[in-house]
Amino acid sequence: MSIETVALSAYLIAALLFIRALAGLSKHETAVAGNYFGIAGMSVALAATVLLAAHVGISALGVVLLIAAVLAGATLGLWRARVVEMTQMPELIALFHSFVGLAAVLVGWDGYLSVERHPFGPAANVLRVQGTYGIHHAEVFIGVFIGAVTFTGSVIAFLKLSAKIKSAPLMLPARNQMNIGALVVFVGLTVWFIVHPALLPLVIVTLIALVLGLHLVASIGGGDMPVVISMLNSYSGWAAAASGFLLNNDLLIVTGALVGSSGAYLSYIMCVGMNRSFISVIAGGFGIEAPSSAAQDLGEHREITVAETAELLANARSVIITPGYGMAVAQAQHGVAELTRKLRERGVNVRFGIHPVAGRLPGHMNVLLAEAKVPYDIVLEMDEINDDFADTDVVLVIGANDTVNPAAMDDPTSPIAGMPVLRVWEAKQVIIFKRSMASGYAGVPNPLFYRENAAMLFGDAKARVEDLLRAI
Ligand code: TAP
Repeated sequence: MSIETVALSAYLIAALLFIRALAGLSKHETAVAGNYFGIAGMSVALAATVLLAAHVGISALGVVLLIAAVLAGATLGLWRARVVEMTQMPELIALFHSFVGLAAVLVGWDGYLSVERHPFGPAANVLRVQGTYGIHHAEVFIGVFIGAVTFTGSVIAFLKLSAKIKSAPLMLPARNQMNIGALVVFVGLTVWFIVHPALLPLVIVTLIALVLGLHLVASIGGGDMPVVISMLNSYSGWAAAASGFLLNNDLLIVTGALVGSSGAYLSYIMCVGMNRSFISVIAGGFGIEAPSSAAQDLGEHREITVAETAELLANARSVIITPGYGMAVAQAQHGVAELTRKLRERGVNVRFGIHPVAGRLPGHMNVLLAEAKVPYDIVLEMDEINDDFADTDVVLVIGANDTVNPAAMDDPTSPIAGMPVLRVWEAKQVIIFKRSMASGYAGVPNPLFYRENAAMLFGDAKARVEDLLRAI
């Protein structure tokens, strides 16, 4: 059997393993197995690629450099993945996407330099004989465009998620026209490049795509960031698939298409869940109006002590806990699980209400609560629990903010207007655990804190929950 056949068979096996990985990751119970399938698929793919590269005649130095690059990348990746906090996961993912985008740009430029730059060189002649010379121009151009948009878009997403720049949307006056204009220019330049594959259109499209990626993500407000991350995930998949066409690598095409389509579908599901227009989000906030800057007078908030909270809980029959990002940062989940156990022992009906984008990545709260051994059957999704708040004695909002903001329902001018929220304010009493009156990720004030049946329990969530455990 030839080396090519071995490598192609390995690619097929790797592609099947990636599909098994995706299937596994779609359910909580099979997610760990899904990860193992993914690791196995990637190991097979890398081994086959190195084997194939060595076989087609890259020099010994080339193979050494390739292995050195794989080892350096693997060491860096392992180290980052081990030290990253769960709360920093989305920004790490954004950073990974930026690498995929940058790689696609470099592969595209390399394709141009080795083929179009030497139109009568051996590489171009091989493509001419195959009748794919013109197709190569399109592959270079589209690959560079998608890669550059993914690259700068992901860098901005990383900066926003890690709070290195403000998460508020950039509202340039003619932003929609600029985005559409960039797409029209891209189509025109593609035609130019296919007819006449010169350096100038490639330079222009690279610059336009870099600016477009930057602008598309800068225009999205904090509340819509989760969708942007999964959208960039999809873009990075298409960028990888474009590189696969250029490098004539079937596995890269299959893998890129898997990532591209699953990311697009996830973005769609998240848009439906958050009542956002899919088109609006992928078009960089198309149709979203700038929020009114008029300061609102929300009134006075009320504070509550740990002892008063303990007393309220002692007299409650039903309690719902709605955790958010703050519970994750404070690592309060173990205390919250202990509190749940104590209250349940006393016959209190305790349940959890989980918003689909609570925390900083999908499923964030479910993972933390499962880790703290909170029983699955009392952890309910937003839609399953939203009608029960009205019959609830006490709601504990632990480090959540945007996901319990009534302005999403009451204020059509709010940047989060229309986003479904947990209707915690319908309960008899709401207690909010947070450190200050600061707003949440979307940067929007929360009128919940000023409602008559709401009270603030200030301080670090973990410390306050532990105080509460002692008081109970
Ligand atoms: P946020 O709206 O971000 O609110 C979290 C609150 O936790 C903050 O108001 C903060 O108030 C408090 N907090 C922080 N550290 C704390 C600590 N040590 N102890 C106690 N409280 C603490 O969180 P959320 O309600 O979970 O909403 C999630 C937000 O993130 C949404 O806007 C969502 O769109 C966005 N987002 C979600 C995802 C996904 S997919 N889940 C990804 C990216 C972005 P203080 O500073 O006053 O303490």
